[in-house]
Amino acid sequence: MADVQKAIDFVRTNRERFLAELKEFVAIPSISTSNEYKSDMEKAAGWVAGQLRLLGMDKVEIMPTGGHPVVYGELMGAGKDAPTVLIYGHYDVQPVDPIELWENPPFEAVVRGDNVYGRGASDMKGQVLASLKAVEAVIRTTGSPVNLKWLIEGEEEIGSEHLGDFIQKHVEMLRADICLNPDAGMIAADLPTITYGLRGLCYMEVRLYGPSKDLHSGLFGGTIQNPAQVLAELVAGMHDKKGKVTLPGFYDKVRKLSKQERADFARLPTNEEFYLKQTGVPTLWGEPTFTPAERVGARPTLEVNGLLSGFTGQGSKTVLPAYAMAKISCRLVPDQTTEETFEQMKAYLEANTPKTVRWELINLHNSGTAITDLDSAGVKAMTQAFETVWGKRPLFRREGGSIGVVVQLQEYVGVESVLTGFGLPEDNIHSPNEKLHLPTWYKGI
Ligand code: BES
Ligand code: MN
Repeated sequence: MADVQKAIDFVRTNRERFLAELKEFVAIPSISTSNEYKSDMEKAAGWVAGQLRLLGMDKVEIMPTGGHPVVYGELMGAGKDAPTVLIYGHYDVQPVDPIELWENPPFEAVVRGDNVYGRGASDMKGQVLASLKAVEAVIRTTGSPVNLKWLIEGEEEIGSEHLGDFIQKHVEMLRADICLNPDAGMIAADLPTITYGLRGLCYMEVRLYGPSKDLHSGLFGGTIQNPAQVLAELVAGMHDKKGKVTLPGFYDKVRKLSKQERADFARLPTNEEFYLKQTGVPTLWGEPTFTPAERVGARPTLEVNGLLSGFTGQGSKTVLPAYAMAKISCRLVPDQTTEETFEQMKAYLEANTPKTVRWELINLHNSGTAITDLDSAGVKAMTQAFETVWGKRPLFRREGGSIGVVVQLQEYVGVESVLTGFGLPEDNIHSPNEKLHLPTWYKGI
């Protein structure tokens, strides 16, 4: 206990510096999805490597992948009989649009009240830094009783596309007893949470081509079918009136929930009221025979992430657009696969797209579904840590988001993850005014 106390005291005395470092990290616009930010991606990777060097790792390397680089570090001083903990993180963030809805510039990291606002503050630069600072506190006070490896990637927000290959190439390097993955958040500031299931994701883009150029809607409307209209009808047909996805065979492989699993879901505080409060909608939606928590944690979905066609500027323009595009992604649950889902979308478009347009379907990225082992030593250690700091046992849940690395580590290295984190549902991740709750963050460290 005395050792833990020394580390905790170290965190308390260094709070201000930790916050200054967090602001520095958030200030780097490391948006992975757009080529425009390539040099900022490198800067963010360099920043993380700098942090690892300050911690005195035996080895720190920025390693190339087919996409954005991975930052790797290790400290193996605890000896070969001590356990090895792999700490995962991602330094990339989501885009910031619609920018006009931010109360401060997204890459300025402004503190207001108990929160620091900025893109990536919660998802997940704050979580990466929480791990770094926790390790720093241990190293500077008592030394690390476990061997440490760090795997900090730059493509999580775009499906960890090249990480699978990277992991397969470096299986020996990445061997560990457990992976600590703090990218999964918690249900509420007073409800520490361990997540043991994540949904998979199949992200697609549908492109419809009509006339060879935009047309005058008066001169051609009525004789040429409008691609925007076709797209709207296709998208509308992807769900039935009861909220079920209509892609052929979509539910065939969906694993049924057992009585026990439904009882576990029913115990979670994420009820109807929780979702109403978090989102501000007048009423919820979804498959009526499942509860909201089940619909998010254990049922597959199809979402339209974006639509593009025609004239959307100020005022009006009488145009019949040549082109329409939709970004559509499906969240998947065991035992669905991303390959089958993509084929099902293709089959749907083949069956339903009229001859008036030409279509194209592109698979942007994929992420597998994951269920993690609740009996692992890592889950036990994390549970104990929560009991020490929060004074209570964590909740165990399945969440609807996706994190590519979890299945990749299971499949290629045989390492289980402990999914947790200190982000809150009200942190506005992927949304304007993303923020991190500082008191929870300090407790997390
Ligand atoms: N940290 C999130 C996922 C998450 C959030 C899991 C809260 C559990 C609780 C992660 O950074 C994320 O957003 N992932 C993307 C991945 C996708 C692009 C493959 C997602 O889920 O949309
Ligand atoms: Mn995210």
